[in-house]
Amino acid sequence: MKIIVTGASGKTGQIVVRKLLENSVDVRPVVRSEASKAKLKAAVPAVDPANVEVVESFEKASLVPAFQGCTHLVILTSSQPKLVVSSLFGVVWGKLMGKKGVRPSFYFAEGQEPERVDWIGQREQIDAAKAAGIDHVILISSMGGTDVDHFLNTMGNGRILLWKRKAEKYLMASGLKYTIIHPGGLLPHPGPKRESCEGGKRELVVGVDDEHLNADDRTIPREDLAEVTVQCLTCVTCVNTSWDLVSKKEGQGVVFSTLAKLLQSAKSLHCDFSKPDLDSLLAA
Ligand SMILES: NC(=O)c1ccc[n+]([C@@H]2O[C@H](COP(=O)([O-])OP(=O)(O)OC[C@H]3O[C@@H](n4cnc5c(N)ncnc54)[C@H](OP(=O)(O)O)[C@@H]3O)[C@@H](O)[C@H]2O)c1
Repeated sequence: MKIIVTGASGKTGQIVVRKLLENSVDVRPVVRSEASKAKLKAAVPAVDPANVEVVESFEKASLVPAFQGCTHLVILTSSQPKLVVSSLFGVVWGKLMGKKGVRPSFYFAEGQEPERVDWIGQREQIDAAKAAGIDHVILISSMGGTDVDHFLNTMGNGRILLWKRKAEKYLMASGLKYTIIHPGGLLPHPGPKRESCEGGKRELVVGVDDEHLNADDRTIPREDLAEVTVQCLTCVTCVNTSWDLVSKKEGQGVVFSTLAKLLQSAKSLHCDFSKPDLDSLLAA
């Protein structure tokens, strides 16, 4: 096994790389800049900078050489919404006036919109994986893709979850082996609300079609998501499956042990991708 991790400098990407190295797995992290390479090295000192590929433009032609000789691709790239700081005044004012549901505003930097990063950028990675002879792609996406009006879709008018879903469908049709994970909200969350985010302390729960989207338990520590991602590399049950992943609160239920056991207990491992109608929604 030789594993490519893209988005390796991101918050979950760093943990996946760290866990692979701890398990002596051959990993080739891929990042988009020298600054991100330095960020990864600072977060995971065991990383050998000589093994980190810097690919500035996530296009098939530049990705294929980086992917060559690898067996698995873990995709952890994502567009990153930026906060409109002045919108926080509205949030504070709304709270003072007793209004509920007032949210801050976000935007995407030019050229870094979800269509570019989550759709085109991931499509290029999938095409490159195919060209480089990669066997199995593990795509970390997000819960919420069935809900056109989900807050994340309205953020910066980016329709991020819909573009992510388009990439998921592309992967499923690619002929490559795939595993698509839709995690709930990742812990730690930004902002003042502090919830424990230690890994290996919670029961994990698998679902399909956003069944946990509005449940009380709809988050998961990045540490646990990274552990599941790493176990996907050796779990045959996860091949050609797509599912949502959340956790119970610490102290409730039975702490996660193995992915094979978790998936065996799931009632379905196949989300319904027939809805929403992405072609008409994204063409609009
Ligand atoms: N945050 C949540 O609550 C939540 C919930 C559900 C699902 N998810 C999804 O879970 C995954 C992991 O989330 P995370 O918060 O750990 O990620 P993150 O910290 O935001 O990392 C995103 C990664 O994508 C890279 N990236 C951004 N734009 C890129 C581009 N144009 N080309 C190539 N790489 C690019 C970033 O590189 P740099 O380091 O160079 O910036 C970074 O490594 C993401 O797909 C996210 O959407 C998140």
